[in-house]
Amino acid sequence: MTFTAQILTLYPEMFPGPLGTSLAGRAMEEGKWACDTINPREFATDKHRSVDDTPAGGGAGMVLRADIMAAAVDHALEKQENAPILAMTPRGKPLTQARVREIASGPGVTIICGRFEGFDERLFDARDIEQVSIGDYVLSGGEMGALVLLDACIRLLPGVMGASSSGDDESFEHGTLEYPQYTRPQKWEGRIIPEVLRSGDHAKIDAWRKQRAEEDTRLRRPDLWERHRDGPDQSPSGAQEKDKDKE
Ligand code: ADE
Repeated sequence: MTFTAQILTLYPEMFPGPLGTSLAGRAMEEGKWACDTINPREFATDKHRSVDDTPAGGGAGMVLRADIMAAAVDHALEKQENAPILAMTPRGKPLTQARVREIASGPGVTIICGRFEGFDERLFDARDIEQVSIGDYVLSGGEMGALVLLDACIRLLPGVMGASSSGDDESFEHGTLEYPQYTRPQKWEGRIIPEVLRSGDHAKIDAWRKQRAEEDTRLRRPDLWERHRDGPDQSPSGAQEKDKDKE
């Protein structure tokens, strides 16, 4: 099955962009995912093909029109009716690994990229659209956010990462950051790889990794740490935890 991304963007030349190379590029060549762009300008009704207008109530910038954007969304729905529709906006719900996993397990996704001061809010009243943010900072448009979301999904598609790295052990999959990694040389600038990692004792290695993952999460991400301690149901990746340490 091909995971199909439909991107509504005023800058279709930005896709697949970096997703045409490396892991995602290879997966695309192999038909594991596909990317179609739809330019909302195609749905404009005036001779200037305008998609935006000044904000009601005044203020800086321009707002994407609900009527034009809805026409583009309806076109996307005709082409792919069972995929979730996301709008990239700093006003959205923060993207999580759990949501990424859900999207990656479906047939595809339609992503609306914002520009300017955002969307006419009536678009979200009139259509079933999930507003998503990739972080608490403001980008010049939703395209980079769409690329981020797609990258996170594509690597999880069957056969993309290979059997060795199912992604089960990485950051967020157990509600914590991942443990730190080391590789050769064994000694570098006087620094030595932790002894336990060279012991060959897998129970000890697992315990050390769990402890470091938890310590780093507590220090760097107190928000994640609180949720992790509150219970496995709160895991931001949606992953089930088997033997949670409740000390
Ligand atoms: N568009 C502008 N800023 C954004 C953000 N932080 N997340 C998603 N889309 C955006």
